[in-house]
Amino acid sequence: MARSYKIAVLAGDGTGPEVVKEGLKVLSAISEKTGFDVELIPYDLGGERYLKTGETVPDSVLQELKTMSAIYLGAIGHPDVKPGILEKGILLNLRFQLDQYINLRPVKLFPGVWTPLKDKGPEEIDFVVVRENTEGIYAGVGGTFKKGTADEVAMQVDLNTRKGVERCIRYAYDYTKKRNARKKLTLCAKTNVLTYAHDLWARVFEIVGKEHPEISQDYSHVDALVMWMVKSPEFFDVIVTNNMFGDIITDLGAMIQGGLGIAAGGNINPAGVSMFEPIGGSAPKYAGKGVINPLAAICAVGMLLDHLGEAAAAQKVEEAVKVVTGTKLKSLAAGKMGYSTSEVGDLVVAAL
Ligand code: IPM
Ligand code: MN
Repeated sequence: MARSYKIAVLAGDGTGPEVVKEGLKVLSAISEKTGFDVELIPYDLGGERYLKTGETVPDSVLQELKTMSAIYLGAIGHPDVKPGILEKGILLNLRFQLDQYINLRPVKLFPGVWTPLKDKGPEEIDFVVVRENTEGIYAGVGGTFKKGTADEVAMQVDLNTRKGVERCIRYAYDYTKKRNARKKLTLCAKTNVLTYAHDLWARVFEIVGKEHPEISQDYSHVDALVMWMVKSPEFFDVIVTNNMFGDIITDLGAMIQGGLGIAAGGNINPAGVSMFEPIGGSAPKYAGKGVINPLAAICAVGMLLDHLGEAAAAQKVEEAVKVVTGTKLKSLAAGKMGYSTSEVGDLVVAAL
């Protein structure tokens, strides 16, 4: 019997549906070629549904999502909804409820893609960030006191649990072991200031590291690390870091790999349901114009396939994207690709 996967499709807001459409085009082509079946189950979570019904993720939907092989997400964010509501109510809510404790973000410069880093090419820009995805400042622990007065106090707690830190670091070591021959893992933290929280990270990094003598352990303070990302990105193989630092350094990573048009990520629960997405936002100003770059969403399909165990198919998707960046697109920027959104999807399918 053919392998078969149930994929929840959350196209979402803004340009989400346009890029997801191209991702699904590629998914359908590669599944046919490879010989596995996909069943797509669409959900209309996002700003429009919220504005109509006040719902973000209804419990019934959450329960259904728990039965999927994986989730494919377009983008969340709507100009008519106050910032924070959809981000917390949908994106972070799903990451937390589905315990997707890893945010895996490859930073890889593809052939033909312009990088703002002078004298750096695909050889130099090729690393992966393993971002903790369910704790830290994102946990939402804190509160305000005397709000709106001159005596206002606001606290947002950086929550780090031994369990949360350890499972993230373990994942990072295991990932580094499998990734390639370099076998170098860099812990990105701020141990010189966050002497409680990041002391925990540093200790666990060392303890778990003892189980992986073949992996070279490296440490960098976050402020120095962003400097090295720009100056010498070739230093890095895998970087493991907390939620907030990971959020920031992966946007820098996206820029050095050519921008948000190509950057994809996976929200991973190794024992549960994982969710794959282009990491750029919903870009409402480009919505409906057919100018947005779908390659990030297509790369997210590649990551999804890899996660499902379809490594050969994932590899083919990546190779096809490389052909398109290397031989077709003028630029990765919206409106400047030399092709429309759907033409870029077609080019990738043709390159498969
Ligand atoms: C990301 C995004 C989210 C985050 C926002 C939209 C909540 O920036 O996926 O990196 O901060 O994690
Ligand atoms: Mn971010």
